[in-house]
Amino acid sequence: MAAPMMRKGMSLLLFLERYSGLSGRSPVFYKFVRRCTTQASNSDTVETSEPEISSSGDNHDVPRPGVDLRRFSDIQEERRQEALRSVLVRHVGKATEDELAKFCSHFGEVKSSFTYGNQELYTLLEYKSKGSVHSLLNTAHFRSVLEVLPYKSRLLSFRSSSWMNSTSKKSSVGDMTAEQKFSILATKLCAAQSMEEQMQVLVRETQLSEGETRLRFLVCSLVEDAITGYFPGCIVHPFGSSVNGFGNKGCDLDMYLNLNVEEHKPKKRNSFPRMEYEVKTVPTERAATQNLLSTVGQSLGEFVPSCRHVQYILNARCPLVKFTHEASGIQCDLTSNNSIALKSSELLNLYSRIDPRVPPLVYAVRHWARMHHITSNMPGGWITNFSLTALVIFFLQYTDKPVLPGIDALKELADKADTCVLEGNDCTLVSDLTKVPPSGNTDSIDDLLLEFFEFYSNFNFKSCGLNLRTGEIQEKKNFDALYIQNPFEQQLNLSKNVSMHHMEKFVQLAREAAWMAEQPDFLQPEVGPKGGVTPWGLVSILSGYNRRKRRLMDQKEFTPIFDSIKSGNPKRNSSHGNVGPRIHITEPVKFKSVLKSAKSKVDKRTKSGNRR
Ligand code: GTP
Ligand code: MG
Repeated sequence: MAAPMMRKGMSLLLFLERYSGLSGRSPVFYKFVRRCTTQASNSDTVETSEPEISSSGDNHDVPRPGVDLRRFSDIQEERRQEALRSVLVRHVGKATEDELAKFCSHFGEVKSSFTYGNQELYTLLEYKSKGSVHSLLNTAHFRSVLEVLPYKSRLLSFRSSSWMNSTSKKSSVGDMTAEQKFSILATKLCAAQSMEEQMQVLVRETQLSEGETRLRFLVCSLVEDAITGYFPGCIVHPFGSSVNGFGNKGCDLDMYLNLNVEEHKPKKRNSFPRMEYEVKTVPTERAATQNLLSTVGQSLGEFVPSCRHVQYILNARCPLVKFTHEASGIQCDLTSNNSIALKSSELLNLYSRIDPRVPPLVYAVRHWARMHHITSNMPGGWITNFSLTALVIFFLQYTDKPVLPGIDALKELADKADTCVLEGNDCTLVSDLTKVPPSGNTDSIDDLLLEFFEFYSNFNFKSCGLNLRTGEIQEKKNFDALYIQNPFEQQLNLSKNVSMHHMEKFVQLAREAAWMAEQPDFLQPEVGPKGGVTPWGLVSILSGYNRRKRRLMDQKEFTPIFDSIKSGNPKRNSSHGNVGPRIHITEPVKFKSVLKSAKSKVDKRTKSGNRR
């Protein structure tokens, strides 16, 4: 394990040096503009926009600068309405953004637009009112009346009057490899002044942008349009990382199709006379979900433009349909009968906003896990991002001075309107963020990250489970490699799928990360032989690169440490085991103090002018 990581570290260094002069321009460009007027000629009055921050006004004097204090459900509903007022337009030939804006402004006031693409340009255009979308659609034509399925959607193409002159498509820069992307990111991280800043830069560089978030809601809205014909009143909600506050550029889009059947249940039992819908019956609820998703998947594949490569995974615990939405480049997972998953996303979103240290910490841990193949998009025994985020949240609940409250405490703060019972489970959560008292913990995010690694390096996963409701350790009820009590379906383990192998790998890598932070040069940027900066701080942890590690490997100072989680008795110096080369860790390390002393060394060096 360590040897390939070392090789990866070396190639990272070469990449860093080779790409250190790159502008960092992504092959797919995104431009989001908020239009102030409907006049295309005034398009130079537009501004680039970051996600808007707003406050509900009922803030109880809790200072949370930069945090959106609105209720999760209000934010989702506002996004949904925004999407319903929007269209997605492909530019054909040389059609420019200004030509498109001018054309579209004939049908109503354009509120904002978002243009993206490389080979082909697309614009997501939001009108001020839904009526304008209908007016625009009424003027749209089919390219031909033959050989097409005349499906009408809000995915359109725009040909300007000069389209005939179009010569060729824009040249494609081609997709970068993951390694190239990371080297560009690493260059930016290495240029930061502190590890704390590196963690903030990581969030800024990798989180979903405003335009990408809008695009995700629009894709849900387009899919909803396709299903509404069969099931009027249905809603397709995004959930998972698209809305939980931890979304990365390019993450999948998890969708939950809600048929809103609850609304049509009789208010009183045995109330007569009443009218009932005539329906077909199905043997089980699961069979109904499977039939529904199978039919919906077929419609998406056959009729809905841009939905391609439909795959049916109907026998999974949670049946789903996977497809690619080509115009947005988003991989979609459509599920139904999955309301608890949406509530879980609300829970994570709440935690992401309770304390500003949570997002940088979760992004760092998620990125670290992805770089080291602890998480994966493939099905299998990997730790999912959901479980990984739960591990971070639990650590923040359990730490000496808790940064985050347990879920039970969040339930205590809820008011009557927050009461929520899903599939027989009490899923009540406070929705007013301002009711959650701030934490007394003042640790910096880089300290917390290293404490996280230390905490799980020593955790007794064999006999202990994690309870996010109480924020306490609980006795494990089975032999699962990782036991995290499901926050809403409390009888279940949300990490049931995780294999012992992946758990061992997680602990091993947590120890390596903690060990790296112990090294005296951990926070010290150094110029490499070719002029690039060698990885330091967060970049060392993400890439697994460490200068001293090579020396230690050469000296064969590696010992196995993974017997510990099998025996449930962490032994840092065990000399048995066959889990591959391991880094030798001596006594439990006081990483915090190590980091602080390393910081002060760097500060001294900075003051004396030695630092870059
Ligand atoms: P990405 O990997 O960035 O897509 O993160 P994500 O949070 O969206 O995770 P993912 O797409 O794997 O899962 C989407 C949702 O499915 C999560 O928000 C959870 O509600 C649910 N989910 C995912 N993994 C698990 C799991 O291991 N156990 C349970 N109970 N639910 C899960
Ligand atoms: Mg997801």
